[in-house]
Amino acid sequence: MNIAIRYFTKSKKGNTEKLASFISNKINVEALDTNNDLNEEVDLLFLVNAMYAADIDKNVKEFLERNKNKIKLLVNVNSAASGASTLKSVKKVCDKLGIKVSEDEYHTVASWIFINKGRPNEDDFNRLESFVRKVAGN
Ligand SMILES: Cc1cc2nc3c(=O)[nH]c(=O)nc-3n(C[C@H](O)[C@H](O)[C@H](O)COP(=O)(O)O)c2cc1C
Repeated sequence: MNIAIRYFTKSKKGNTEKLASFISNKINVEALDTNNDLNEEVDLLFLVNAMYAADIDKNVKEFLERNKNKIKLLVNVNSAASGASTLKSVKKVCDKLGIKVSEDEYHTVASWIFINKGRPNEDDFNRLESFVRKVAGN
């Protein structure tokens, strides 16, 4: 299975980058930020993202627009301070672009300014490992 990992991180904490790097280590696939387009069609894309102002960032939307024809299945991996998932926002964009999105997603609460200190924590990363195993079969 051809797998790619793309992420977009905005805050200084780099929560999304940490989640993407973790997946990268588990499946031996390079994690690149969303400024890097896909070189070829992929069976599975881990789109690692976070919620900003109740939406996904413009950079992520633009990546999806540019790469819509190269993604067979998108798997959403995301965090937010509130505990709300970005799946709805990701699906809204992908539905318009004709990108198939898995209903199965990984979400974690994450730190922001002074709240949720230390998240994602060890338990969150353990859950991510199980999720990646299930989805990618590693
Ligand atoms: C500019 C900004 C806006 C945010 N807006 C929201 C929000 O509307 N809802 C929410 O639950 N979390 C919000 N957060 C928290 C982030 O989703 C959370 O901290 C995430 O882990 C950040 O990932 P990053 O460190 O990779 O940028 C916001 C964070 C930033 C920096």
